[in-house]
Amino acid sequence: MCAELIDGKGMALQLRGDVAHGVRELRGLSHETQPGLAVVLVGQNPASEVYVRSKARLTAEVGMTSFKYELEEDVAEKDLLSLIGQLNRNREVHGILVQLPLPEHINAHAVINAIDPEKDVDGFSVSNVGRLTVGQKALVPCTPLGCLQMLRRHHGSLSGLSAVVVGRSNIVGKPMATLLLRENCTVTIAHSQTQDLAAICRKADILVAAVGKPNFIQGDWIGHGATVIDVGINRVTEGQQGIGKTNLIGDVDFKSACRHAGAITPVPGGVGPMTIACLLANTLTACHRSLGLDDPVGLPV
Ligand code: GUN
Repeated sequence: MCAELIDGKGMALQLRGDVAHGVRELRGLSHETQPGLAVVLVGQNPASEVYVRSKARLTAEVGMTSFKYELEEDVAEKDLLSLIGQLNRNREVHGILVQLPLPEHINAHAVINAIDPEKDVDGFSVSNVGRLTVGQKALVPCTPLGCLQMLRRHHGSLSGLSAVVVGRSNIVGKPMATLLLRENCTVTIAHSQTQDLAAICRKADILVAAVGKPNFIQGDWIGHGATVIDVGINRVTEGQQGIGKTNLIGDVDFKSACRHAGAITPVPGGVGPMTIACLLANTLTACHRSLGLDDPVGLPV
């Protein structure tokens, strides 16, 4: 018997439809305003190029303006900071995303914190992280927000559930734990130094895997009927010497996990599409706030 599949692709399609509707409605409220998202890519990381291309395509599809900046791998940090300054001042840009990882010679913290917090649609700046942590209105990181949305849709209330987040990155693990705490879960963050990880995972009603290692979480680490959110998007090449077809594989060993979990997100078609949909939702939210309007109705925050 296999667990129920949580259809991130379908939920993302619906959310992008809601965002597109919100963009059209905004024209009624403020004639001139079309929300704009600027995406900055440094260097030629093939995975990042794929993400940035699909972000640009889907931004246009919901009726927003897409601004794309591709900078050389060896761009000076000051030139990147200067571009961010320009985007901060550009009134047609409501959201700014700098694709990570950045090359090593660039201080990623300095770059992220140079983004105007009101346009920081990734929610990675110290300002937005702090606001989220103390319970103030913030822009919330897209991947954990997408995961939370799937959990809310699947469970309804998450209050009192035991949640285990495996991974402590600033992009996923830490904000995911903060969001689950906000939903009144009892939250454990596990990581590479955690002892007896399998036993800790087994106690989870909700297990979020964000470790970046293909098939790392085994089926017998999953408690009977638990809900599993697989954040991993690992590119694994079939065959030898990197020649052959590339497959996307999650952090959870899907086949064995299906026999234990109550519900699970597939890879691909789970977290990935929801991340981009939440980015578009955040851009519309940022645009509303910049105009002094209430947050758009029905979008995740
Ligand atoms: N790299 C991997 N995930 C993300 C993300 O959510 N935002 C940005 N900016 N870079 C990423």
